[in-house]
Amino acid sequence: MSATRIDYIVNPATSPLQGRIRVPGDKSISHRAIILASLAEGVSEFDGFLDSADTQATIATFRQMGVHLQQEGGMVSVEGVGLHGLSAPPGIIDLGNSGTSARLLMGILAGQRFDSTLSGDASLRRRPMRRVADPLNRMNADVRPTAQGTLPVHVKGGRQLRGIEYELPVASAQLKSALLLAGLYAGGKTTLIEPEITRDHTERLLAHFACPLNHSSHRSGRRIETAIGGDDSALQANNLRVPGDISSAAFFLAAACIVPGSDIFIEKVGINPTRCAVIEILRSMGADISVLNVDNNAAEPAADLRVRYRQLHGISIPPALIPIAIDELPAIMVAACYAKGETILKDAAELRVKESDRIQALAEGLDKTGVTVDTWPDGLRVLGGQPVGGMVDSHADHRIAMAFCLAGLAAGGPITVKNCKNVATSFPGFIDCAKQSGWEINTKTIPSD
Ligand code: S3P
Repeated sequence: MSATRIDYIVNPATSPLQGRIRVPGDKSISHRAIILASLAEGVSEFDGFLDSADTQATIATFRQMGVHLQQEGGMVSVEGVGLHGLSAPPGIIDLGNSGTSARLLMGILAGQRFDSTLSGDASLRRRPMRRVADPLNRMNADVRPTAQGTLPVHVKGGRQLRGIEYELPVASAQLKSALLLAGLYAGGKTTLIEPEITRDHTERLLAHFACPLNHSSHRSGRRIETAIGGDDSALQANNLRVPGDISSAAFFLAAACIVPGSDIFIEKVGINPTRCAVIEILRSMGADISVLNVDNNAAEPAADLRVRYRQLHGISIPPALIPIAIDELPAIMVAACYAKGETILKDAAELRVKESDRIQALAEGLDKTGVTVDTWPDGLRVLGGQPVGGMVDSHADHRIAMAFCLAGLAAGGPITVKNCKNVATSFPGFIDCAKQSGWEINTKTIPSD
């Protein structure tokens, strides 16, 4: 990051939040669309693509590996090079803040003829990569993270991968996706068993690009099998409309639950069932959310969401919903500060290894704004009331930054959120979009400390 810091300042709203908004395209789907279209045969076109710092990292990587890709805002055209058409990148691949790019690429690079090295920013270099490297190496890859299991990761090319049967030790869609992508290069079938259901965009898009998988249920989770392996698994180009990102919409769903009288309509949001537990969780806290104009005809379902203010009450968040609401938990826990009673989040240790330690970042910031909060290694408890104003740190984590902007909406005074530059990794235009609903966020640029 450059030598300035951007802080956001949110004053308590003086009137209800209202209006019709559209959030940018889904980040997970946008990454996968670039990846699969690059590896497909033929030209694919997308609209609604998320043009953000994270997805630009994926685009830049495929350009460095010889893929012709044109992108203007949400419109993208990709000339696929086929599974074996990538060329060696000229140097270290820098993925910035993007965990999805890093992990999914490890799976693809493991199957190439050339060597490569992946790295990223300070936050990404702290995140665990062994969870991906270990099973890839069981597939006969040669993938070497640092001794701490982090980036930079060196991937040796020219390895003949073989399919494995593997029970994922963590519920992680990035891990699952990396292994399914490596499976495209492996001899024989790759079979994965998920401990709990996680987002299934990779599976859906593989089918959309003509490479369907077999699914069956398995105890609490799901068993996924590549239908074919190795040289038979060619991908065919296809077009795609990327729906709005429910993870970005979540901040508006929560905002309308905080400011009395609010009524916000969010157009064309992705409602893939493995992503939208935030709706179920907020509804069980009392939220008034309607899902309208459902479109199930595309590879990824979408709908309009209308949310009207209703006083929330605290709940214990059901553990089975955690992997499918993982990125929305910061917004939910901040909404819980304004709920009646306490909200308990357990079984969410994965939050500690996101762009920041989100349990710690939430607890620290909420505590600074006078909210009663307790933490456990795998979660936190928040007692509803009214936060006071103050200054909190996002720890350069986009979702923590936007979550604390929520906290300022009805607090006893203004809330300043430090270090908000990374909001651009997932939600460029957040401030303008918020303004359209009457949510005013001011920015302050200051020299870094
Ligand atoms: C993602 C999966 C999740 C999520 C991340 C995006 C994806 O991470 O938190 O923001 O696109 O596959 P994990 O796979 O680590 O759970």
